[in-house]
Amino acid sequence: MKKPKIFIACDTTSVNKVKRIIRLSNNSQINFGYKFGLEFLNSKNGRKFISKLKNKITFGDYKLSDIPNTCVSSIKAVKDLKFNYITIHLNSGLKAIKAAKKISGKTKLIGVSVLTSLNNQSLKEIGFNKNLKKLVFHQAKLATKARLDAIVCSPEEIQVVKKIFKKEIITPGIRLQGDKKGDQKRVMTPKQAFQNGATSLVMGRSLTNGNIKNNIQRLIEELK
Ligand code: C5P
Repeated sequence: MKKPKIFIACDTTSVNKVKRIIRLSNNSQINFGYKFGLEFLNSKNGRKFISKLKNKITFGDYKLSDIPNTCVSSIKAVKDLKFNYITIHLNSGLKAIKAAKKISGKTKLIGVSVLTSLNNQSLKEIGFNKNLKKLVFHQAKLATKARLDAIVCSPEEIQVVKKIFKKEIITPGIRLQGDKKGDQKRVMTPKQAFQNGATSLVMGRSLTNGNIKNNIQRLIEELK
């Protein structure tokens, strides 16, 4: 059977903590990749560390949300980091995501749909008229049109996305059984998310808070 693929969200400013996460997640049962978000990417030594990282699956979670020209030039600006994946908000618009895809080369471009920290109430607050599932379906259509390589959505929308988007579906909003949701609203356990059809997961605090080795062991048990 294929090993489950999970990106660990390295949400910290500490290079030492990232080194520890990488060391402790060296594992034969799960195919771990490493996701670097705005916190680490903007930290003093983050970029340099990533530039030296070898033989790991890397995910630059830039969540670009800007005009086409800026999205394109930002992706070009980090080409040297040779990320396997980079994210762009689908809300940047069709032109921006198409332009970004055109120049992303070997780096897989992931379209981020509605954040997992939002719910229908939050969408209303922002001013969207569509409900969550309809909006994510609409965004998945855009990702298909722009031939993106992957979509990030919550595990609750996997089935909806699958109707229209046939490539990778990556889901954050994952919690080990009994763990606190924190700021996330749409969450599931790793097992549920894979059963729903996720091709890979993003997991942060459930793995990186407290004892990382024990957390990974819990994850392995839950996935059985
Ligand atoms: O700690 P937790 O597992 O909630 O972390 C989730 C990670 O996934 C964070 O790094 C967050 O930035 C990212 N993410 C998310 N929801 C999205 C896209 C990315 O939580 N829709």
